Amino acid sequence: MANGTFTDKVIVVTGAGSGLGNALMHGALARGAHVVAVCRTVDNLRSSSEASHGDISRLTTLRCDLVVEADVDRVFDQIHGKFGRVDTLINNAGIGLFGPSESFALADAHRLFDVNFFAAIKCMQRAVPLMTARGGDIVNVISTAGKVVRRNEGIYAASKWALLAASEAMRMELDAHDIRILAYLPGGMVTKFWQTPSGRQHQPDTSSFMYPTEVADYLLTILDAPRSLYPQEILVRRGKKR
Ligand SMILES: NC(=O)c1ccc[n+]([C@@H]2O[C@H](COP(=O)([O-])OP(=O)(O)OC[C@H]3O[C@@H](n4cnc5c(N)ncnc54)[C@H](OP(=O)(O)O)[C@@H]3O)[C@@H](O)[C@H]2O)c1
Repeated sequence: MANGTFTDKVIVVTGAGSGLGNALMHGALARGAHVVAVCRTVDNLRSSSEASHGDISRLTTLRCDLVVEADVDRVFDQIHGKFGRVDTLINNAGIGLFGPSESFALADAHRLFDVNFFAAIKCMQRAVPLMTARGGDIVNVISTAGKVVRRNEGIYAASKWALLAASEAMRMELDAHDIRILAYLPGGMVTKFWQTPSGRQHQPDTSSFMYPTEVADYLLTILDAPRSLYPQEILVRRGKKR
């Protein structure tokens, strides 16, 4: 049963322009939260939210390239100015670049870590001071690749393992502030993640993959549980489609 804990919460979702982040944005709006959608492409977000019957007045869209530190600083200054707090940060933005490690371009490896790891750390560092007065939740979207490494996924998996390791430490470090750290590890989802130019050679058959809406709903249901429960690491593999 829904506990209604989202009402008037300030939820920051990175990478809200597509895929899982977009589904989280719609789901949180529908549950009554104020959603701050942080993404590079913000143009169609408001109209798509109206279409999904969310309360558009609760949506704030902020353009941001998460690998540009000054962009992230500006965005969190704006959030501070508008709301004075963050209740939940969902570090969702991520990219997938794949290939054998021995020939993997170092520039691509840096890019993976810049988006999947350093941007999440930077957002966490800016969000924590806005959470300490009331507590809050930080969700780091990892992947099953954060647990299981496959051929040609080594560098991508490393960026996710790094975030998982940082999540473990953050959980201990932020406990005194009542800030919960949830590592969310979904399996394959049907999103544009698999359509990146560099991912072309690695494109799997996505016909059995999960839909981002169901993966988003599951996460929001977990976050809606009473605070007496502390979900720490949730891994969701795809089940059978019926
Ligand atoms: N799809 C899967 O099978 C799968 C499985 C496990 C985990 N995941 C993880 O789930 C998360 C969401 O991925 P998705 O599947 O929903 O893929 P997606 O549709 O490609 O969404 C990723 C989002 O991240 C944003 N992003 C990338 N680089 C950015 C940057 N520098 N600044 C701001 N935003 C940036 C993208 O924005 P743009 O539209 O501007 O590029 C996009 O909206 C990622 O962390 C991914 O690693 C995905």
